[in-house]
Amino acid sequence: MISKNNLVENICCVGAGYVGGPTMAVIADKCPEIKVSVVDINEERIKAWNDDNLDNLPIYEPGLVEVVKRSRNRNLFFTSDVDNCIKNADMVFISVNTPIKSAGLGALQASDLKWVEVCARRIGAISKGHTIVVEKSTLPVRTAEIIKEILEATTKSAKKNGEEKTFSVLSNPEFLAEGTAVNDLFNPDRVLIGGEDEVAIEKLKSIYLKWVPNKKILCTSLWSSELSKLTANAFLAQRISSINSVSAICEATGANIQEVAKAVGLDSRIGNKFLNAGPGFGGSCFKKDILNLVYLCRYFDLDEVADYWEQIVHINNWQQNRIYEKIVDKLFRNLSGKKIAILGFAFKANTNDTRESPAIQIASNLLEEGSILQIHDPKVSWDQIFNSLSTYYETNKLDKSNINNWTLENSVESAVNNADAVLILTEWDIYRDINWEKISNSMREPSWVFDTRLITDPRKVRDAGLNLWRLGEMESCKDGKFGLS
Ligand code: NAD
Ligand code: UGA
Repeated sequence: MISKNNLVENICCVGAGYVGGPTMAVIADKCPEIKVSVVDINEERIKAWNDDNLDNLPIYEPGLVEVVKRSRNRNLFFTSDVDNCIKNADMVFISVNTPIKSAGLGALQASDLKWVEVCARRIGAISKGHTIVVEKSTLPVRTAEIIKEILEATTKSAKKNGEEKTFSVLSNPEFLAEGTAVNDLFNPDRVLIGGEDEVAIEKLKSIYLKWVPNKKILCTSLWSSELSKLTANAFLAQRISSINSVSAICEATGANIQEVAKAVGLDSRIGNKFLNAGPGFGGSCFKKDILNLVYLCRYFDLDEVADYWEQIVHINNWQQNRIYEKIVDKLFRNLSGKKIAILGFAFKANTNDTRESPAIQIASNLLEEGSILQIHDPKVSWDQIFNSLSTYYETNKLDKSNINNWTLENSVESAVNNADAVLILTEWDIYRDINWEKISNSMREPSWVFDTRLITDPRKVRDAGLNLWRLGEMESCKDGKFGLS
């Protein structure tokens, strides 16, 4: 409902997830005069956002606890009373999940927009007066058209009942990365607002202007804004697949991936970010957003363009697969009964998120080979690992006989106990300072360390008598000296 003084006073955000929670916490922090309500149908999640013990927030993000502490129950509220909050809001953000469709037309590629549609219908049914509806979720280009059509239908029926109900739809995609979400929100590279209604754009802009410089706020058409989000993620993922493909060339030729990445990244036209080779990109978005782009290209008969982007995902799967094959190869092509310590299950450091983590595919492959996994991660829970593995096995129709052959260990020491190999999959800081001398005593010989994040000191690992394989380095390379032997 529009306020008397024409300013945004009441925001409702539908979806209290990795985007809705931190984004709204920062808006509430920077705009104490605005009441911000974050709603979700998942009551457990809302309960966790309201937990007195801030360590129990449903999302782990550095700096988030402090932000939530400052504004929760002042002007930031988490509730499952979806309808009431929509009714009172003059601006509603849609921050619901948009995963890949699992069945039907476009299965495994197109975005599943069912949660977005439910949300739009609810906003249409419940809201009063004029409401600005903001797409925060990542959506296929032209989704705003669907949202508008749903909302306009309710405008017409309200009119028949003598009620005035109008909407403006804006696109305001989120570019935060997990693990750095709070910092990204406080200091964004840019804020993108797509839309046609100048007044609505100005109102949304005035919120961001509280802490983001004007020159960083970019206003475009709805379709450019929607497509820019998909494209930005596709470009970032493309860099990772590019550097990962080069990591394999390095292993074959004696070039060193970190040296190559540095040399390439020093070209100011290329830049040094997103050039860290690793086990492949994970996270809830890169894969789904690229596949969504691929689906859109095919829909518009742009098959060559679709093939181009699809290759990024193909290389990503290949990278995960070749790491697993390397381990099998080094452990005498037999993993039966062998213990492997997996260090890190989150898709990147500083998050508890495991969605699409490379650890899922690699761990599943190792379990299938008969190994016993001793997993450690500072922030990931047993339930998350169990659910991730179960979903992966089901989706890929794998034989489940070995699916339970893993434990979650509460220290690196217990994870490596009696292990034949240590596999580093997430670049958590604590794995940078491992005392390899001490670790080697509790491992079974010959023992291996597989470092897919390049965070070990090769000399220290080898001096401890351990065999070492590092991604993007030739195996004959010792102690930082590279070249063909
Ligand atoms: P999420 O799964 O963590 O959160 C989405 C929440 O929406 C869930 O808690 C779900 O219960 C709730 N929800 C779904 N339908 C609802 C409804 N009708 N009413 C109330 N609540 C409902 O997802 P996320 O990671 O926050 O991602 C949300 C969107 O933001 C996606 O489109 C994603 O692509 C995009 N995005 C995510 C990130 C990220 O880092 N995770 C970054 C940028 C953009
Ligand atoms: C990514 C984008 O960076 C965000 O801008 C975007 O908003 C978000 O997706 C989204 O739309 O969901 P996120 O997935 O949270 O953010 O994290 P990233 O830092 O991008 O990392 C993604 C994956 O790539 C991780 O598995 C990470 O380990 C991997 N990565 C990243 C590399 O392997 N090498 C790199 O150099 C950088």
